[in-house]
Amino acid sequence: MSEGILLAKVARGILLPEAERLARLETALPQIEAVLEGETDAVAIQATLACLLWDTLAQCNWCGFYRRIGEDLLAVGPYQGGMGCLRIPFSRGVCGACARTGTTQRVPDVHAFPGHIACDGATRSELVIPVRIQDRLEAVLDLDSTHPAGFSAPEAHLLEGLVARVFGLGVR
Ligand code: SME
Repeated sequence: MSEGILLAKVARGILLPEAERLARLETALPQIEAVLEGETDAVAIQATLACLLWDTLAQCNWCGFYRRIGEDLLAVGPYQGGMGCLRIPFSRGVCGACARTGTTQRVPDVHAFPGHIACDGATRSELVIPVRIQDRLEAVLDLDSTHPAGFSAPEAHLLEGLVARVFGLGVR
């Protein structure tokens, strides 16, 4: 059991088989949405998601947000894991590519991604999902794993749905 939601405890860093990862997500997502129901403060949502997705996604060594603070610039937001880079321009890294294109970036091997920013040399794969508030790119959700191919397409799809719903109407 995690502190915020009911979920079996799994050791940090383990890459469970995909079916088990999807089952954990299916269990966790409705609970996470219930916790966040009615919340309209973007930082409160980001901090709570960083906490609860960290519990849900055992394969992560970093889980959190970069926020748009300028036309082409991200700054680190609420997260769990080791210290992340403080600022990321749109021109750099997986997070920058997500912010620039407004599309999810699922990178099974970061060493093969041109311009990848190695905040943590142990990171091998990433999933970065754009966060739009009232149709403007306001942040990205960055998920990193020490495992190659740590995130599957179905996981990305479920997480995109969560992000779209919790940052929906009314968030500032
Ligand atoms: N690896 C990311 C940078 C963020 S940190 O690793 C937390 C990237 O290339 O965008």
